Amino acid sequence: MASVDNRGGFGGKIAAILAAAGSAIGLGNIWRFPYITNENGGGAFILIYLACIILLGLPLLIAEFSVGHNSKCNPVDAYSKIRKGWGWLGAMGLVSVFLIMGYYFVISGWTLDYAISSATNAISDGYFQEFTTSTWSPLIYTYIFVLLTHFIIIGGVQGGIEKASKLMMPLLFAIIIALAVYSLWQPEGRAAASGVFTPDFSKVSGQTFLDAIGQAFFTLSIGMGAMLIYGSYFKKGTKIAGTAISVVALDTLVAITAAIIIFSAGVEDVQGSELAFVAMPKVFSTMPAGEVWATLFFLLLGLAALSSTISMHEAVTSYFVEKRNMSRKKAAWLVTFGAMALATTASLSLGMWSDVTILGMNIFDTLDTFTGKFMLPILGIMTAIFVGWIWKKEDMKAELTAEGGIDKATYPFVRFLLKWVCPVLVSIVFVFGVIDFIDKL
Ligand code: PHE
Repeated sequence: MASVDNRGGFGGKIAAILAAAGSAIGLGNIWRFPYITNENGGGAFILIYLACIILLGLPLLIAEFSVGHNSKCNPVDAYSKIRKGWGWLGAMGLVSVFLIMGYYFVISGWTLDYAISSATNAISDGYFQEFTTSTWSPLIYTYIFVLLTHFIIIGGVQGGIEKASKLMMPLLFAIIIALAVYSLWQPEGRAAASGVFTPDFSKVSGQTFLDAIGQAFFTLSIGMGAMLIYGSYFKKGTKIAGTAISVVALDTLVAITAAIIIFSAGVEDVQGSELAFVAMPKVFSTMPAGEVWATLFFLLLGLAALSSTISMHEAVTSYFVEKRNMSRKKAAWLVTFGAMALATTASLSLGMWSDVTILGMNIFDTLDTFTGKFMLPILGIMTAIFVGWIWKKEDMKAELTAEGGIDKATYPFVRFLLKWVCPVLVSIVFVFGVIDFIDKL
């Protein structure tokens, strides 16, 4: 294990918040949240989602930060340092985050192409289908995106991740605010958005709860080691609970603002993942200075994705550095090549290799479904069990209530959520989700 002292860390509190918010805010907020909200009854889904974020997401985020902050280790060593024999939980998170990288980098690559093609007005009807199923262009953009991530990672925690976050996050906030103001400027925009936000409880089913929990965990990067490794880089004196609350607040604001932007464009009848890449360019093409807005929108998507992919990459890289004693550069290349290889199969599975299927799904959808429907809930349940039941009670309490942690009056409530509410609730919803999944096969 590499020594704890020379592993680097964030310079201060703002850096900690921006980096962690960067991990949280990603394609999950801008690409996924709007279409899931739309499919699940709009405002009705948002209410359930907010409950999941506050009752499950926030305590789990505090838990994961605490495990990292307490152990100052990579995800595998962190769990085994706190309780011998639990390193597998960290390893399971890393395997999952690696699988997520497999398809996440592909979508991230699309955002680059879309930002460029929007600027030159090259996006016409059918572009999405044609582009994503072709062989070379999506692959090249995917590789560029992996390399962008790579070079930030080898810059180190402060010189790479912190610097990039401090640069990208303010830019991201500026773009999203500009887009939101523009969208709400028009009366039709306001009307369209409020239509989607009006709760429709008839669309709420058991599946809605599974989607809400899955979305809450995905958007907060729960259980994957990404938040754990960032927690391990928090400087002494960084307030864990305060940081977690800031991250949750920023993440939720961005998700809801992204939904407003997309729905005010009047695209509420577009289904699924096509919302951002198919419906939005159509809307932009009818707007004055549409190229500018479209380019900004895809730049926003790309920035959000990049600040997330660096946290995924860092979680896995830190393992090879600290556990396998590699240099940071070598470890980063290993992860980079691994991610490129997996992303290649995911990208090709939309075109050339579309007949390679697992349970009827192509590789891209398999990676998404397996991590989202199975790994995320299991990791959430296990993280809650670890902190609530396995971590020695006094040590856990000392870490969670340490200076800057949760105050003594709120602590029992957070502990109750982690010990009982998270494991029980997520397990119930998970079992129903699996039954439903098997039924649909
Ligand atoms: N939270 C990111 C998003 O919403 C995705 C992510 C998952 C990041 C797991 C890191 C780890 O897009």
